[in-house]
Amino acid sequence: MGTDEELLGRALALARRAWGATHPNPMVGALIVEDGEIVAEGWHARDGGPHAERVALAALGRPPRAGATMVVTLEPCSTAGRTGACCDAILRAGGVARVVIGATDPNPAHAGRGVDVLRAAGLAVTTGVRAEECAELNLIFNHWITTGRPFIAGKIATTRDGFSRPPQGADRWITGAAAREDVHYWRRLFPAIAVGAGTVRSDNPALTRRWREADGTVREDCGWRFVFDATLATAAGAEANWPRVYADAWKQRTIVVTSAAADASALARLETAGVRVWKMETTRGVAGWAEFSRRCAAERITGVYLEGGFELLADAARAGALDYGFWYRSPRESAAGWGGRVEWMFASGFRTERHGEDELLRGFFDRR
Ligand SMILES: NC(=O)c1ccc[n+]([C@@H]2O[C@H](COP(=O)([O-])OP(=O)(O)OC[C@H]3O[C@@H](n4cnc5c(N)ncnc54)[C@H](OP(=O)(O)O)[C@@H]3O)[C@@H](O)[C@H]2O)c1
Repeated sequence: MGTDEELLGRALALARRAWGATHPNPMVGALIVEDGEIVAEGWHARDGGPHAERVALAALGRPPRAGATMVVTLEPCSTAGRTGACCDAILRAGGVARVVIGATDPNPAHAGRGVDVLRAAGLAVTTGVRAEECAELNLIFNHWITTGRPFIAGKIATTRDGFSRPPQGADRWITGAAAREDVHYWRRLFPAIAVGAGTVRSDNPALTRRWREADGTVREDCGWRFVFDATLATAAGAEANWPRVYADAWKQRTIVVTSAAADASALARLETAGVRVWKMETTRGVAGWAEFSRRCAAERITGVYLEGGFELLADAARAGALDYGFWYRSPRESAAGWGGRVEWMFASGFRTERHGEDELLRGFFDRR
């Protein structure tokens, strides 16, 4: 049999099959081991669907053999939600003598309760195996379940010396293909992407998620797309000249975040076209971000990936609204005309990764 670490590695890979698809629930992977062999696997595929432990038990199709081990990335739930408590399911199935758990339940009201229930029933329980990876898998869920607020992460790509805004006419790509592919990987995790009006004007981005499957097929889908535009200047012109996020096949997935200063005719035309508009008092500062966060929570949008540009990120950072940051740094130096200099300091969970010739620095901010 593999070690507990190896088995948890497999369970993590199973959990990631539902990358970005389980919100507001966590991603979870589980497997059942009998006499050293993995005999069943499962993962939580979508909100409202069966939990990973139950999927693994169902996949087995018979009661586990006496002495079996259940391996699961997240502490099994001890309270019955829509799908019943997984601890009960494990105990009722019989046979399982040991449970190996990655991360404990991040919800302080539940943490450790599943472990207690299983131990009280006489099962051996090992906790904390690859706990950090298992917890990191659910950055968004962990934040949402403990605060009731969306997890707001900023992403910025800069030159080596920290500049994010290229001069007019310069090549708009700061980082290479591998880093850009990584951005799409993280876009897929988040239920929503947000950009400022300046980025819509200069780049006319699609803000969809594009990725390649293991078999080489290229796929594209679209989560929520937020455009922060206080006056609705991005929708002022004729519809024929609108940016693609107001006109493409996914325009119903676009929400324009605007203010009391919004142009009334642009607002009406956007709504007629099927684009949603959130009119707030202001889109800026502490008040703007607090209202944005409340509105996201009301719609169960549990995570937002702020893709830029600099002005939007700077305002979010100043307002203390950023929970997490992804900073891609290219080896290229800035030159005359570059703007938007960032120097992010992470408070915890700091990681560095290499993507091609670029470096990703990521971690949690100290949120006020
Ligand atoms: N390096 C990167 O990772 C990256 C990422 C994206 C874009 N870019 C580049 O950055 C440039 C655009 O960035 P930018 O800084 O000029 O513009 P931006 O941040 O995309 O948009 C700024 C505009 O958004 C509106 N806005 C609404 N609410 C806001 C808020 N809370 N905070 C800030 N702005 C708010 C403002 O216009 P109103 O006041 O009219 O609403 C403001 O002028 C482009 O060159 C683009 O290619 C770089």
